[in-house]
Amino acid sequence: MKCRVCREPAVIDVRRQNANYCCEHFLRMCRDQVARAIDEFAMVQPGDRCLVAVSGGKDSLAVWDLLVELGYAADGLYIGLGIGEYSDASRDHARAFASSRGLKLTEIDLRAEYGYDIPTGARTAHRAPCSACGLSKRHIFDKAAIDGGYDVLVTGHNLDDEAAVLFGNVLHWQTEYLGRQLPVLPAQNGFPRKVKPLVRLGERETAAYCVLRGIDYLVDECPMAAGNRHLGYKDALNQIEAVSPGSKFDFYFGFLKRAAGHFRSGAEVDQAELRACARCGAPTPGEVCAFCKLVDQAAQPRTVTVMLNQRGHS
Ligand code: AMP
Ligand code: FES
Ligand code: ZN
Ligand code: ZN
Repeated sequence: MKCRVCREPAVIDVRRQNANYCCEHFLRMCRDQVARAIDEFAMVQPGDRCLVAVSGGKDSLAVWDLLVELGYAADGLYIGLGIGEYSDASRDHARAFASSRGLKLTEIDLRAEYGYDIPTGARTAHRAPCSACGLSKRHIFDKAAIDGGYDVLVTGHNLDDEAAVLFGNVLHWQTEYLGRQLPVLPAQNGFPRKVKPLVRLGERETAAYCVLRGIDYLVDECPMAAGNRHLGYKDALNQIEAVSPGSKFDFYFGFLKRAAGHFRSGAEVDQAELRACARCGAPTPGEVCAFCKLVDQAAQPRTVTVMLNQRGHS
């Protein structure tokens, strides 16, 4: 197995590209793919301040490292979701990476700030953990980016993630989601610009990138996600990819090129109908945003306990 570029012994094959790479040229290929995605979709402009949402996993640490390597100013944001040892370990990996590179990491703890954590909050609010988690993360990402004066919010979503979400949205014809499933969402209506610079790289490549760069990432996946639909879609696509390399890339990029535009008008109407949440000011179609409603429901037991304690003392 020889490197496609220099013919020295290769350390990794990328079947989708029908190519093998040595360490140096694999890392360069990853940088080139990210630079190309940024350029192709006008994700980040020179001089932009980026806020990278980091979970301590391979994707978010890789994208943070790659942005810094490419010369962008990028700080990190870690959200403590309160998922037991998993959250403690993810925080430690995010902190270790930030301090090893001298980068700024902002931490927001869900329990300290909003009075709930994902496992108990989701149960109390009768929501699936991943749905409560996704809603909480999206709200806090947006707020932190706007409050911190950042130009762009970056996440570590990779090609496998995006292809799996697309697969689910197509299976169920979620047309309003299809209209918004883009690698860049422009800043509008009080939302920051949101970008996914890893869309041209698969998760096997982001893991290899971290290993070859000496980035110590959290290998464990979130325990609450086990058995969810998204992982099922990923498995299905992996089986297709095994017999037909390049299918995921064609599926996702073919959608962006040929189909996404057909769904955009519905998503734009949705955006036009947004107003400021009466509680927190975040953009929402209703009076109170979904996050504030979740906080009300999820943080309930604590309020009840406080009331009971107060009654006990009187
Ligand atoms: P997930 O929703 O777990 O698939 O993660 C998608 C992206 O959200 C990751 O690539 C990160 O950029 C970001 N992210 C996930 N968990 C956290 C967290 N606890 N704190 C900050 N960002 C996160
Ligand atoms: Fe959100 Fe697992 S990281 S439920
Ligand atoms: Zn080489
Ligand atoms: Zn709100």
